[in-house]
Amino acid sequence: MEEKLKALKEEAITGINSCGDAEALENLRVIYLGRKGVLNMIFTELSSIPVLEERKRIGALANELKQKIEELIAAKRLGLSKVETKEAIDLALPGKKSWTGHNHPLTSMNDEICNIFLQLGFSIELGPEVELDWYNFEALNIPPHHPSRDMAGSLFSSFFITDDVLLRSHTSPVQIRVMEKRRPPIKSIMPGRVYRYENFDASHAPIFHQVEGLYIDKGVGFGELKWVLSEFCRRFYSPDVKIRFTPSYFPFTEPSAEVAVSCVICRGKGCKVCKGSGWIELLGSGMVHPQVLINCKIDPRQYSGYAFGIGVDRAVMIKYMLDDIRLLFENDIRFLEQF
Ligand code: PHE
Repeated sequence: MEEKLKALKEEAITGINSCGDAEALENLRVIYLGRKGVLNMIFTELSSIPVLEERKRIGALANELKQKIEELIAAKRLGLSKVETKEAIDLALPGKKSWTGHNHPLTSMNDEICNIFLQLGFSIELGPEVELDWYNFEALNIPPHHPSRDMAGSLFSSFFITDDVLLRSHTSPVQIRVMEKRRPPIKSIMPGRVYRYENFDASHAPIFHQVEGLYIDKGVGFGELKWVLSEFCRRFYSPDVKIRFTPSYFPFTEPSAEVAVSCVICRGKGCKVCKGSGWIELLGSGMVHPQVLINCKIDPRQYSGYAFGIGVDRAVMIKYMLDDIRLLFENDIRFLEQF
């Protein structure tokens, strides 16, 4: 019996010492000290020792062993928990860098433009990117075979999904949707993504962004158009920016005008961004064509209005002096981090 206890002690010491984690240690505890464990079995066997003295001596040895094992397990448990805690909070480890995201420059620019028009009393409307021929062309006074359908490139062959369903080539179709839905006075801006049949190069993208504007009411004239766009340019660039209106053509506005601002980079002297001209073209605009009003069941003898379309990507390129539009679509984190 004494031999057995000695062997048991050796075995328990090596077992407990070499134990690697809390779970294995708990298993050992159950084996030695559990209700049906080795030590309890020894205590039961004690009764079969006939001589009282001997029974007492072996009993004491067994108690000693039990205590020893309890101590070993407790010490080991403490050691293991230290190892585990050490792993959990190692104060010497370098901190984790937290990554704060932010808006894409196109999103920020879009918000900036929209906010100015919100301050000027416009509401925001949205329309679908997949559009019908009627909204994208017909209702805007662009009949089939009209040469200005070409502004969308060979849109017919490539961007039409079926005969009369296409990816919108501008945000102007949202004008029609808004006029269909609501009666004047209407004063809305319509931001969104547009598609054209273009290959990517430094100044072209097959997808880009516009903010459309529309104001329809009784007695709206070109003066209102001039004022609102000048005010926008002043708030967007600077109060002393020079603004130039030049005649232009769009089938859905008459008269039409393109708006340019004095180059914000060289202040009109001529540089790379304005290609030496001193002016930067920013948007197309004009008085809504009477036929467009008729198409939306608005009486042009009673109502008139203006519309405009601002190129958001161009505005970003001008603001940050980017010479390649592709930077805005590649999502290269090294580029985007700079904003
Ligand atoms: N839709 C025109 C374009 O994409 C811009 C425009 C909008 C012009 C509204 C006049 C009025 O070029």
